[in-house]
Amino acid sequence: MSLSSASAFAILGTGSLAPDRVVTNDDLAKLVNTSDEWIQTRTGIRERRLAGPGDTTTGLAAGAARAALADAGIDPAAIDLLIVATCTPDLPMPATASLVQTALGLPSTTACFDLNAACTGFVYALDTAWALLASGRYRHALVIGAEKMSSALDWTDRTTCVLFGDGAGAVVLGPAPAGSGIVATKLGAIPGTSELLLIPGGGSSPLAPDAPRHIKMKGKEVFKFAVRAMDEVCRDLLTPRGLAPTDVALVVPHQANLRIIHAIAEYLELPHDRFFANVDRYGNTSAASIPLALDEAGKAGRLRRGDLVLLVAFGAGLTYGGALVRW
Ligand code: ACO
Repeated sequence: MSLSSASAFAILGTGSLAPDRVVTNDDLAKLVNTSDEWIQTRTGIRERRLAGPGDTTTGLAAGAARAALADAGIDPAAIDLLIVATCTPDLPMPATASLVQTALGLPSTTACFDLNAACTGFVYALDTAWALLASGRYRHALVIGAEKMSSALDWTDRTTCVLFGDGAGAVVLGPAPAGSGIVATKLGAIPGTSELLLIPGGGSSPLAPDAPRHIKMKGKEVFKFAVRAMDEVCRDLLTPRGLAPTDVALVVPHQANLRIIHAIAEYLELPHDRFFANVDRYGNTSAASIPLALDEAGKAGRLRRGDLVLLVAFGAGLTYGGALVRW
């Protein structure tokens, strides 16, 4: 568990990109034995974006990053740190961050690496970038969450294939304008829980050379963990600072399931509209979900200067994490 605070760095701009191809629940009902009614009732998802033949994790990441750089008004040459959070990289090696660096024309002095904490990846990457900026060794960071989840799905398994989507979101971090900045972060992971949510094959393990390269999940257990862990993270970030959930202007949670989001709202005794949700249109885009939601929230006028914003996520590992940000 890491719990950190101290800040002179803020999110200076956001951007996102999703593939053009919209796939509705009715479209999926032609592939597997499911229905729009089941998917909407259990998850809140109406449709998702899925990669077309030309879409890659790198391409989505680079598109989101360009938009974030433009939004922040920061020259790509000023980026000295690039972290891509992803569990669906284009290649095992090199890191997607290196491919994105080339796509964006970032300088050779930029440190580039990927980070995998599954759906908690963006919050882990934000915490990491913040710590590296606070060390004084870097000044402007690009933090991207990008996924091509469609590449990791078994399209005959109705219990998983209806839940996920593809996309990317990005933020630029840099010296904070007065009154804004990251306030605190908290990360953690639960040992012995990897079997609840995993892609068993495709890695180097000699134990499972022929294991499926698709997501396997025990949905009910993950659901219960998600609600408990995200509630705890929110309280751990707020309570020591004398803050109550009602002090938060907007919660931007990982977009896995609207029922999970509503359950946290009930635990924290906050109205549903205090939570930003776009899972209905994108499904679960894993590490991309929070920055994609953050970008949409900003464009919808839901993020005002000085607001306290809470980002909170859970994912495979099982991992969890949160970040409290003064916008
Ligand atoms: N369409 C129709 N029926 C279905 C479907 C489907 N797509 N999927 C499952 N069912 C059936 C099941 O087979 C089961 O049938 P049965 O009762 O005859 O056995 C029934 O629906 C109920 O299934 P449950 O699994 O009990 O449904 P539940 O209400 O738990 O909802 C869900 C399942 C949506 C997966 C839920 O448990 C959930 O959202 N869990 C959290 C998952 C999650 O957030 N994962 C995040 C991943 S994060 C990362 O790091 C990648």
